[in-house]
Amino acid sequence: MATLTETSSHTTLIVGAHGTVGSALSPLLTARGHRIRRATSRTPQAADDVHLNLLTGEGLSTALTGVDHAFLMAPPGHLNQDVLLAPVIDAARAQGVTRVVLMSAMGANADEQAPLRKAERHLQASGLAWNVIRPNWFMQNFNTFWLQGIRQQGQIFLPVGQARGSFIDARDIAAVAATLLTTDTHADAEFDLTGAEALDHDQVAAILSTVTGRTIGYTDVTPDAMRPGLLAAGLPADYAEFLLTILGYFKAGYAERTTDAVQRITGRAPIGFEEYARDYRESWA
Ligand SMILES: NC(=O)c1ccc[n+]([C@@H]2O[C@H](COP(=O)([O-])OP(=O)(O)OC[C@H]3O[C@@H](n4cnc5c(N)ncnc54)[C@H](OP(=O)(O)O)[C@@H]3O)[C@@H](O)[C@H]2O)c1
Repeated sequence: MATLTETSSHTTLIVGAHGTVGSALSPLLTARGHRIRRATSRTPQAADDVHLNLLTGEGLSTALTGVDHAFLMAPPGHLNQDVLLAPVIDAARAQGVTRVVLMSAMGANADEQAPLRKAERHLQASGLAWNVIRPNWFMQNFNTFWLQGIRQQGQIFLPVGQARGSFIDARDIAAVAATLLTTDTHADAEFDLTGAEALDHDQVAAILSTVTGRTIGYTDVTPDAMRPGLLAAGLPADYAEFLLTILGYFKAGYAERTTDAVQRITGRAPIGFEEYARDYRESWA
């Protein structure tokens, strides 16, 4: 790893601060002596919370006042990520923010017309110091999105065949973001973030079985079989279709690739699936 030079103390706005990645990022920044401002679209609860609704732009100017750096992501459930994020990037630039780290998604740059790709391009052309990080599928999906089938039927139900994914622990994404936000080593660069190895869902189920002491299996389902569950869970129809489309990319093998970016940026190996499963064991009880 290159020698990292810590930047001086600054204030960072974290969009999605109460979400999976953002909640892991906040303590890493404060531990390094930086101030944080945690954006929420709900009523702020803590002193460092700030109201910001990306769907309406409400709170944007206040949220950015006095901010040096920002961590941005698009809230899940919306497919117009460029429309949601471009005003934030523009306002950041106008209000004197100097650096933005944008969490995109692995594969987003495969299509220049994809809204998330347009958001990446907007940041890269903004004149701000930038990083784009594109994580692969999160390990934490197994204790959130895919949790119900595991808990209630002991099954992971997904339309991905025997394709493998190099799942990444969200805590590694946060660790990468923290380094990019607090050092100058990797300015103006983009990274695909993955775990160290690719696993298929039989292997995932076997690890979850070992760690929980329960029998957990994997059932390959069709997209048509999965759709009603996504809609019943409250996903907008267009987002459910998008999710089924990208699960098709998973099935086609596009999630198998591994990169060394976590190791290179953080100086340590990515968290393995077994360690993740042990740490979240209570989720599947
Ligand atoms: N899951 C995966 O496998 C995966 C893989 C690659 C990329 N990603 C990307 O990761 C991102 C999700 O990250 P995550 O899992 O850490 O998030 P998350 O846990 O799903 O949390 C979503 C966050 O978005 C905030 N939010 C919701 N609506 C908002 C609004 N209108 N304005 C401002 N903030 C709003 C929520 O904050 P409040 O409720 O406090 O407002 C919450 O902190 C998405 O952009 C997704 O594309 C996910």
